[in-house]
Amino acid sequence: MLASPITPVQWQDDQVHLIDQTRLPGSYEIIAVSTYAEMATAIKTMIVRGAPAIGVAAAYGMYLGAREIKAGDRATFLTQLSEIAQHLRQTRPTAVNLFWAIARQLAVAEATSGTIAEIQAQLLATAQQIQNEDVATCKAIGDNGLTVLPETPQKLNILTHCNAGALATAGYGTALGVIRSAWQNDRLHRVYADETRPRLQGAKLTTWECVQEGIPVTAITDNMAAHCLKQGLVHAIVVGADRIAANGDAANKIGTYGLAIVAKAHNIPFFVAAPLSTVDFKLETGAEIPIEERDPAEIYQVGETRLYPEGVEFYNPAFDVTPAELITAIITEKSAVKPQDLRQFQ
Ligand code: MRU
Repeated sequence: MLASPITPVQWQDDQVHLIDQTRLPGSYEIIAVSTYAEMATAIKTMIVRGAPAIGVAAAYGMYLGAREIKAGDRATFLTQLSEIAQHLRQTRPTAVNLFWAIARQLAVAEATSGTIAEIQAQLLATAQQIQNEDVATCKAIGDNGLTVLPETPQKLNILTHCNAGALATAGYGTALGVIRSAWQNDRLHRVYADETRPRLQGAKLTTWECVQEGIPVTAITDNMAAHCLKQGLVHAIVVGADRIAANGDAANKIGTYGLAIVAKAHNIPFFVAAPLSTVDFKLETGAEIPIEERDPAEIYQVGETRLYPEGVEFYNPAFDVTPAELITAIITEKSAVKPQDLRQFQ
């Protein structure tokens, strides 16, 4: 059934193959994407999701768009490519990797002299490079995580929220990358996976990845986390991020902020694991991070069942911002640093 390692975005047979993350864990299906509009839809509908994976997908989307352009002259080609970039940018607002990857592809197109075919080839090569870099980056994040995880007499129980695993990246994971490295180095006893309402990325994706890798995992609903910390079941929390401001404030899946407060209350270290491509140095603080609001149906509908009566209003922010002072360290591919030291990587 599963190709291991887990590769959510893969260039194959002149198309981009995406693991359809909306179908897991019930079925493992690959969707072939061959136009930039299809890629935009896949990002918007969360067939592909997770900040670094969205970046990789957008980079391929830029190539797919570039090869659809019919223009023969360079100026028209670049104008149309920037329109394609704008279309892809409008898919999701919070994960900065989307904008980072698109900007990188636009810069490549501008910088490549020669024929349009040569620019197109360079865009494909860059998408593949972004994908490969992300795997290496996540492995470095995993290794750097080992330097800051607490030393305890027993192996660690680590709690994570949402899915910052192979599925959310090019194939190793940020938060789950740290957890994978801890497991490979015999430092992990068990993962506690928050269910992560309303989209259930923890329930459906993180537990699935853990099962694929043979990593022991205990699932809890989001409202059980505080109780687990109080009971001493958790030694550290490691989460991913979708955008980090220059001061270290970190946007991540809704529910992360509450978890950080609870961690502080129980003196449990709280780590954010993310590549530097997730840091938006243009933003001074997390207050400037745009927070996506999604369809209320994600709250009121489970499968075919409506959970609420008619007449109720809903608010469905997909992310929240954890202030830097609640974060023990940000684990990047360069090193794990205190949030206030993040600017050294600018
Ligand atoms: O809405 P999603 O599923 O794209 O959300 C992104 C996430 O998966 C998380 O917030 C994650 O922890 C950071 S991305 C590695």
